[in-house]
Amino acid sequence: MKFAVIGHPIDHSLSPLMHHANFKSLNLDYGYEALNIPPTHFRHIRDIIGEKGLDGFNVTIPHKERIIDYLDDMSDEARAIGAVNTVKVENGKWIGYNTDGTGFVKGLQAQYGDLSHAHILILGAGGASKGIAYALSQVTENTISVANRSMSRFNDWQLEIQPYSLTDVASIAHQFDIIINTTPVGMHQSEDSVMSFEQLKKDVLVCDIIYIPLQTTFLKEAAQKQCTTYNGLDMFIYQGAESFKIWTGLESDITTMRNVVLNKLKQTST
Ligand code: ATR
Repeated sequence: MKFAVIGHPIDHSLSPLMHHANFKSLNLDYGYEALNIPPTHFRHIRDIIGEKGLDGFNVTIPHKERIIDYLDDMSDEARAIGAVNTVKVENGKWIGYNTDGTGFVKGLQAQYGDLSHAHILILGAGGASKGIAYALSQVTENTISVANRSMSRFNDWQLEIQPYSLTDVASIAHQFDIIINTTPVGMHQSEDSVMSFEQLKKDVLVCDIIYIPLQTTFLKEAAQKQCTTYNGLDMFIYQGAESFKIWTGLESDITTMRNVVLNKLKQTST
């Protein structure tokens, strides 16, 4: 079988490395390549993929919404989120899925355990937040809280959540067992914090969906306040594993995938 990831730019994608390590571990002679598709070429996407004879592909920035117009069908989850990161090609038909949110939640369950009674706050209300909130809503009984800078972002949310303004976070943060940053704030040094780490629950788990760098300034600050932290690496690994399952019905070798990506990240950061 043959797969790919489409995006622009795509040169630094770790998806081919990760999927090849998984194929090798499972003894599968499959292919996975990175295809650079600039937005100006996107109208040719069905021809490009058709000529390559792919069985499925991942979709990354900036095409996750644009791809929807080219699909024959999509999962309820992808429809609710309004973004697709995985396409399965079946008898020439293109079916869109979104495994980003489920990927994050699968990783979080492996780290945290049962999420059914957890009180969860997501910072940010963009595409990533929506995917994670949707996937979390399938596994927790509590309403998910989402805080955003601009309240107008909640207008196109179909999911039932508790919306907050980012400015409210300081007064509500103590209620949560898990706090997930999906904003780009705190990715680099010298930025103001998106929230204060004073007065949090004692055992709170503070998460970021970013994995380059592995420890964002946001997570560093949380760790300095003795919070347990969790970065976005597992989200990347598990979204890949979930895509692979959609394409093949098979489970992935998560440990091998994580090790190969982690080694590469450590090499490139030194
Ligand atoms: P993604 O797909 O990664 O979620 P996105 O859809 O562009 O990206 O969403 C980015 C999120 O980060 C939004 O919630 C955005 O807040 P607004 O809706 O108010 O724009 C948030 N964000 C980006 N820069 C921010 C900043 N400097 N402070 C606070 N929130 C920020």
